[in-house]
Amino acid sequence: MNPLPGTWQDALAHRRRHFDLQDPDICVRLLHAEDLSLRCDRFGSVCWFYEYASGAPAEARQLLYESFTRAAGAHHWHAHGMHDRGRDPQLGHHTESPGAPRSWHATENHQLFELRAASGQSPGLFLDQRDNRAWVRQHAAGARILNLFAYTGSFGVAALAGGALEVVQVDVSPPYLDWARVNAALNGLSSARVEYSAVDARLLVAGCHKKGRRFDGIICDPPSFGRGRGRNNRVFRVERDLAELVHECRAILEPGGWVLVSCNFEGWSQARFEAVVRGIGGTIESAPGAGQDCRAAGVPPLLKSCVLRLT
Ligand SMILES: C[S@@+](CC[C@H](N)C(=O)[O-])C[C@H]1O[C@@H](n2cnc3c(N)ncnc32)[C@H](O)[C@@H]1O
Repeated sequence: MNPLPGTWQDALAHRRRHFDLQDPDICVRLLHAEDLSLRCDRFGSVCWFYEYASGAPAEARQLLYESFTRAAGAHHWHAHGMHDRGRDPQLGHHTESPGAPRSWHATENHQLFELRAASGQSPGLFLDQRDNRAWVRQHAAGARILNLFAYTGSFGVAALAGGALEVVQVDVSPPYLDWARVNAALNGLSSARVEYSAVDARLLVAGCHKKGRRFDGIICDPPSFGRGRGRNNRVFRVERDLAELVHECRAILEPGGWVLVSCNFEGWSQARFEAVVRGIGGTIESAPGAGQDCRAAGVPPLLKSCVLRLT
């Protein structure tokens, strides 16, 4: 076993105080901002290293990943290198431990998720949203929920598990929606309560408005930058388009309904983000936001979130 850097050992000790690393299926961030050259998430039996580097890891580095993986209670690792800090998803490299699975399952908030190694920078679940997903689960009973920018459908799965009457999962990418179907089925959640829509989020919301379709809860967690599709192939930029989209979401809410808004846009602080959402009108409530494992003293969390409620 290679000796681990002190900061990595401290990070593990901190996680052990708050999370059960003996749980073979646990999902937890193991390295957040403790080491500025990378992050590491554990998804059950696999540690996933997000490297901010332009070359594949040297052998000594790989041995370090192996030691850290074992010390964290996992068995395999994947290292996904992001050149340019991930701004260009096409630029990158991927390394893995011998025998590491290409797809596997892990548990978050008692729900199972499928993780996949060949899907880009992330294996399919953003752990900084764990507490926000738990919030959605708590607020979903009997509700009609719209999950915009659904990706692998994790917020929709949380809503279904919380007893939502109906969930609409929206993403421009059909393969991600297929993955969302797999995640719902893995949890035995009835497909009769879910609708999948491979369309631009702005078009979907405008269509609901036109048809008078209403929701009790909407999750709006867009990428900082995303390409539209079909009739709306206009690029989505958080700093330019978020306020307008949330404003339109507000128009398709039932009285007392909520929009959980979040983003990872580096150019905004939480205060600036909240000011943008507050400008839309309605009441602002705090959302749980990033959990213990995705925060570091003195480093503002990248994830910004809040709840807009229609009173
Ligand atoms: C940051 S992820 C969203 C994460 C997701 N909310 C979650 O809980 O894991 C971005 C997702 O938005 C989708 N997307 C990007 N632009 C879109 C658009 N204009 N309309 C709908 N989906 C879009 C992408 O395909 C991708 O799956």
